[in-house]
Amino acid sequence: MTPSSQARGARHYPLVDPAHDPRLAGRKLRRVVYSGQEIAARVAALGQEITTAYPDGELLMLGLLKGSFIFLSDLVRQVIRPLQVDFLVVSSYGDATVSSGNVRLLYDPETSLEGKHILLVEDIVDSGRTLQKLVGLLGERRPRSLEICALLHKHIASHLEHPVRFVGFDAPEEFLVGYGLDHAEHFRHVPYVASLVS
Ligand code: IMP
Ligand code: MG
Repeated sequence: MTPSSQARGARHYPLVDPAHDPRLAGRKLRRVVYSGQEIAARVAALGQEITTAYPDGELLMLGLLKGSFIFLSDLVRQVIRPLQVDFLVVSSYGDATVSSGNVRLLYDPETSLEGKHILLVEDIVDSGRTLQKLVGLLGERRPRSLEICALLHKHIASHLEHPVRFVGFDAPEEFLVGYGLDHAEHFRHVPYVASLVS
């Protein structure tokens, strides 16, 4: 291995034809929305954006479990500055009215947020409801800044109180799986983002 490939951290995944992908467990593929290569290129660019956006201060990247686990792990390796990583586990609950969107933290980061740049990392923003509540909650812990980074944004919510600062892709209004996104906990390990025939 050459020193440069060591620094890059060469990765090799098996090449699988998405039309006959055993990981899809017999479900029919409608289309590949973002290929693994497209995602990798976009994540690299996002990493550069984040590196540039935080010239100083302490940075804590907080991934929302479980959907962000692959995105976060690829993204942090594209950010070329010191940072810390932690996770959040959130449970949405509340009354039946969909608009209430209360959130509860099932796992609270061990690391203190005070005085740090906090970057919340999410797989996909749909209504954005959970995220908006979460920003309110974490904002009380006196971070230096608090921003959101999402791999995918469906732009369904017309006006979010806390806009998403870093977006990977403006996603179509389809149900998507892969690269961390699940359907009933399946398909998270699929290395591309796909839409399945329902
Ligand atoms: P929101 O609070 O409505 O923005 O919901 C966001 C969460 O819903 C995401 O973190 C996902 O877990 C889930 N979600 C929304 N859209 C999709 C999708 O297309 N595929 C898989 N999960 C989704
Ligand atoms: Mg989910």
